[in-house]
Amino acid sequence: MSFNITGTGSCHPKKLVTNDDLAGFLDTNDEWIRTRTGIRERRIMTDESLLDIAVKASAEAIADAGVSASEIDLLIFSTLQGDYISPSTACLLSKKLGINCSSQFDMNMGCSGFLFALDIADSYFKSKKAKKALIVCAEAMSKLVDWSDRSTCVLFGDGAGAVVLESGNGFKDISLTVNGEYEHLYVQKASGNIPFFEQPEQKAFLKMDGQEIYIFAVSSIIREISSMLEKHSMTASDPDYYIFHQANIRIIDSARKKLRQSGEKFPVNLDRYGNTSSASIPMLLDEMNREGKLKKGDILMLCTFGAGLTTGACIIEWNK
Ligand code: ACO
Repeated sequence: MSFNITGTGSCHPKKLVTNDDLAGFLDTNDEWIRTRTGIRERRIMTDESLLDIAVKASAEAIADAGVSASEIDLLIFSTLQGDYISPSTACLLSKKLGINCSSQFDMNMGCSGFLFALDIADSYFKSKKAKKALIVCAEAMSKLVDWSDRSTCVLFGDGAGAVVLESGNGFKDISLTVNGEYEHLYVQKASGNIPFFEQPEQKAFLKMDGQEIYIFAVSSIIREISSMLEKHSMTASDPDYYIFHQANIRIIDSARKKLRQSGEKFPVNLDRYGNTSSASIPMLLDEMNREGKLKKGDILMLCTFGAGLTTGACIIEWNK
């Protein structure tokens, strides 16, 4: 016995930034961004902290599940960068929400963070160390991109997504792959002010070779999905939805065509939020849940890729 997803929540920061807004200070345009990525607009944090958006997404998920925060016995918080290096955002969040379990921590597995968190949660449920868990993915990508680099900053947005998990049989299987390559996608640390040696000034900006990541994503995600389908004697038509990390519509379309499936099976919200890293899948799940698109018994194939480099596929039966 593992878990069911019983509640979802999300938070989209107030400030909406369109492609035309970006063209106001960058050598870019709406047509380039839309046709190369599918993104029309994104949300950017202004007066909100990462903790603020995480609290809102979590409170929604907890209310949707109809549980009390004090019942949560596992809290996993996924982010590339919290408001503080220490303490962890999980500690700050649990105080705000009234969660008092000791099993709580931050994790950073880039865009694939949500699937890595589900994998850890599965172990807690199987070993009966958790009965009710909260997974929160919140990302402030606007603080990591170089706003003078048109090849990266146009791709990302800020946001938070959360799910509540409770004991059940909805989680079926997960496959995660890590290859340790980082040259094409990384964020270095900013240089410190150590007085004992000369250091070159270094800024903590996201660097990405888009074409390399594109090639990696389309080839590896299909491998991951295909082996998962084969392992479970499923065909590509069996999942009701493929819920992809929302990075680029061309990556999603390329996978869809290789799997010979219709567009309805590949929901998308990257047009409105851009790439929100680990928050993208739980944000999309929340949108589908609230719109009543998910029916009890639906089979979901969650698909991810990102820095690490990582890929993952996860089969979940929607039992809410
Ligand atoms: N506006 C206008 N022109 C641009 C822009 C922009 N915002 N950005 C780049 N260009 C230019 C380039 O300078 C280049 O010009 P040149 O031909 O004169 O040199 C031209 O557009 C083509 O650039 P490419 O990088 O070849 O464009 P490409 O078609 O590969 O699209 C993109 C770039 C969208 C980044 C694509 O490679 C991609 O989506 N890669 C995957 C990225 C991704 O999914 N990352 C997320 C995964 S990991 C994670 O989520 C953290």
